[in-house]
Amino acid sequence: MPNADGDDRPTILLTGGTGYVGGRLIPLLERRPSSLRCLARDPETLRPRVRPTTEVVPGDVLDRPSLGRALQGVHTAYYLVHLMSGAGSKDFERADRQAASNFAEAASQSGVRRIVYLGGLGDDSDPDLSPHLHSRHEVGAILRDSGVETIEFRAAMVIGAGSLSFELMRSLTDRLPVMLCPRWLTTPTQPIAVDDVLSYLLAALDLPPGGSRIFEIGAPEVVSYGDLIRVYARHRGLRRWLISVPILTPYLSGLWLALVTPASFEVGRHLIEGLKNPMVVRDRAALDVFPIRPMGVE
Ligand SMILES: NC(=O)c1ccc[n+]([C@@H]2O[C@H](COP(=O)([O-])OP(=O)(O)OC[C@H]3O[C@@H](n4cnc5c(N)ncnc54)[C@H](OP(=O)(O)O)[C@@H]3O)[C@@H](O)[C@H]2O)c1
Repeated sequence: MPNADGDDRPTILLTGGTGYVGGRLIPLLERRPSSLRCLARDPETLRPRVRPTTEVVPGDVLDRPSLGRALQGVHTAYYLVHLMSGAGSKDFERADRQAASNFAEAASQSGVRRIVYLGGLGDDSDPDLSPHLHSRHEVGAILRDSGVETIEFRAAMVIGAGSLSFELMRSLTDRLPVMLCPRWLTTPTQPIAVDDVLSYLLAALDLPPGGSRIFEIGAPEVVSYGDLIRVYARHRGLRRWLISVPILTPYLSGLWLALVTPASFEVGRHLIEGLKNPMVVRDRAALDVFPIRPMGVE
């Protein structure tokens, strides 16, 4: 269906365009032979960052009617939203559930062919899975349940300037010569460079139709958070001492983060709670399906 400008190329809808991952995806999608529409709560903040040919429409994933309009005539819809840092951060799980249900229903009713979602790694069967990671998986399940083919990528920390989880690690390492670190220092994780995430998100456009899939993505090697801090410090020429303190609770860790980093206390605490959960690639199907070979942590 042609969009408002009479353009009849397939339309891609991007949510989260003002965010870290979505913002970096915009110029790449603009080079595709499709027309791009971005949904934003505040379109004026996004308009200067997109080409004149890119549509920016007002919308809020918590406002169901706004989604019907945004998804009209859309072929593929990117869901790159989380509500952790929004007004409802105290109850982000409920808000994320509602938002995903709204989006899933609107996408299904609008005849969207594919949803592409970036969520988090982590083992669904782990009874200790943090509320944040549990919620990321739940969002994927809700999108799949819409009946619209959903391609879910699951990633650990996305490495790149501006990525919240990376910036937390960076501010800690930059500011503290000696760190009292709880057990999570040794948790295994498989972070991924933002360029590799973007390659996967783009490649999802070209997958042949074939039902919903979950792809776990990450760097080739498994490291610990302590390793990440040491690698980063070495590259910055910083000498850092990490001292393991087994009794630092997620609450205290979050409080401590709030004191030494610019990220808000709530967001930091939600992310910290997930640091106890291994975030490693167990299913390597992404390496078979996509010609992408993620770069190493160094
Ligand atoms: N960064 C990482 O390290 C990382 C790692 C693994 C997975 N992921 C996943 O990647 C996805 C994107 O993450 P990110 O780091 O790019 O997040 P981000 O920078 O915090 O951006 C979040 C986006 O969500 C939008 N948003 C929030 N509430 C909304 C609402 N009610 N309606 C419409 N849009 C709303 C924000 O728009 P406003 O400008 O309106 O607030 C913003 O564009 C998330 O699913 C996240 O779980 C990220």
